[in-house]
Amino acid sequence: MDSLLVSIYSIALILLGAYLILRRRYSYWADRGVLHDKPKLIFGNIREFGRTKALFIIIREYYMKYKGKAKYVGFYLFIRRTILILDLELIKNVLIKDYEYFPNRGTYYNEKDDPISASIMHLDYEKWRNMRVKLTPTFTSGKMKFMFPTVVDVATQLVEVMRDAHESGSFEMGIEFEDIIARYAVDVIGSVAFGLSCNSLKNPEAEFKVMGEKGFPCKHNWLVHSFMNSYPNLARKLGVKYHFDDVGEFFLRIVRETVTYREKTGTQRKDFLNLLIDLKNSDTADPITMEQITAQAYVFFTAGFETSSCTMSFCLYELALNQMVQNKLREEVMEVLTRYEGKFTYEAMNEMKYMEKVLNETMRKYSIVPFTLRRAIKDYVIPNTNHVIEKGMDVVIPIDALHYDPEYFPNPEEFNPERFSASEVEKRDSMSYIPFGDGPRICIGIRFSRLVIMIGLVMILRNYRILPTKKTEIPLQFSLRKFFMGSRNGIYLRTEKIS
Ligand code: HEM
Ligand SMILES: *[C@@H]1O[C@H](CO)[C@@H](O)[C@H](O)[C@H]1NC(C)=O
Repeated sequence: MDSLLVSIYSIALILLGAYLILRRRYSYWADRGVLHDKPKLIFGNIREFGRTKALFIIIREYYMKYKGKAKYVGFYLFIRRTILILDLELIKNVLIKDYEYFPNRGTYYNEKDDPISASIMHLDYEKWRNMRVKLTPTFTSGKMKFMFPTVVDVATQLVEVMRDAHESGSFEMGIEFEDIIARYAVDVIGSVAFGLSCNSLKNPEAEFKVMGEKGFPCKHNWLVHSFMNSYPNLARKLGVKYHFDDVGEFFLRIVRETVTYREKTGTQRKDFLNLLIDLKNSDTADPITMEQITAQAYVFFTAGFETSSCTMSFCLYELALNQMVQNKLREEVMEVLTRYEGKFTYEAMNEMKYMEKVLNETMRKYSIVPFTLRRAIKDYVIPNTNHVIEKGMDVVIPIDALHYDPEYFPNPEEFNPERFSASEVEKRDSMSYIPFGDGPRICIGIRFSRLVIMIGLVMILRNYRILPTKKTEIPLQFSLRKFFMGSRNGIYLRTEKIS
């Protein structure tokens, strides 16, 4: 009886302690006189996430609520304190000008126990810088040109799969595009980052795609994840991993096999993996290890496949609903290809200027990565104020909310590629459009994503007209649970062969 009482007593004490700690955490912004919504216990300011609202909608509404009232506001992501910036000047400071205060993203990795998590996406300080410097030459325009034919090969298979789907698909419903496009992106990245033919286009259950999807998001629930991000050093000491063991084992195994094969046979290929192998074998002071190669190839996959494929699917969706835009785009594609005697080359792709506007407007209306983060490594006094972004604080840059701010993009729900005509672009502050982030930690895959998406679109548009069906959602419903932006029920469209 006594021992039962003691345990009830201790549980009550622990709960009380946790409650008091949380209450202190949640009074942080109030104590400092920074505007914010009153947080809910445990959920902070994102209680609706996964229930009634997508995360990007919560942030968009929060931004609109405080826009004009403050340049920055407090924001609680579950139990994590963050500062959300509304002001373009201050965003520029954090990402670019005062970058040395904010060099880290503050996302979790554990090099020792979960080696594939130690990629440039997550690494901090010097480790990040060293890796970024090594990888940057992998993404030059020249390298994109090398990879161009590899991507065209996969896009050719995409058109074949679409033809089969077209012939067997129901006219009324159309076909679900998001999945087909995702498989295309998996095959492209599998091929250039891992040197594999994943064949997920032909075989939807391909292990590669399954493992990739299992690798993101985090294997832990949001509470543990929040803890990992808030106390990374402690989490590392405890051996906490981001990924499931089989995901790490799978990618480490296939990279080891491919690298060993290439080294044994002296095979050279013009892809990312080849460059990573060169880095491993170069006799610099610190050549990169097999684990490090795997982590980078893996992040090209996780950061690259869903972002590119969802952007491309959303673009096709908009093209189906805006036939005038689609016709104009197809005319450009046909005109450029005719000038290149029907040969689709890297140079031809770069001449498609309307395509670029369409793509930019797609990434404006659909910011697949709706926000990005920075973590302060020393106290930062916000210019012209006496507020301090304290060391360790996470800063939220609300990419999607900027793209929906009517001050920069009037009538934001409207899809209008002419927002990206030279004269319109000139009128805007460059920080109002940052689909890839900005500063030294800007997305490393910008050129590559354009390559994947543009090649896919050209191959589709020259063969098919894309049309909506009865099953096409207008407006599109978004997944409430996804961390990134994604459709809730898929994107159903119909194809019509172009004679
Ligand atoms: C439409 C497609 C894509 C979008 C919208 C996108 C967006 C972003 C954004 C917003 C960031 C954060 C930037 C920042 O914090 O300032 C980022 C980082 C990153 N992205 Fe992308 N991305 C795309 C495609 C890709 C592709 C294809 C790859 C790889 C091949 C890639 C690899 C990365 C990496 C490695 C980082 C971390 C960079 C660093 O911290 O040094 N992304 N991306
Ligand atoms: C499209 O966006 C990219 C960056 O995301 C930018 O570099 C480019 O200049 C934009 N193009 C146009 C036509 O605005």
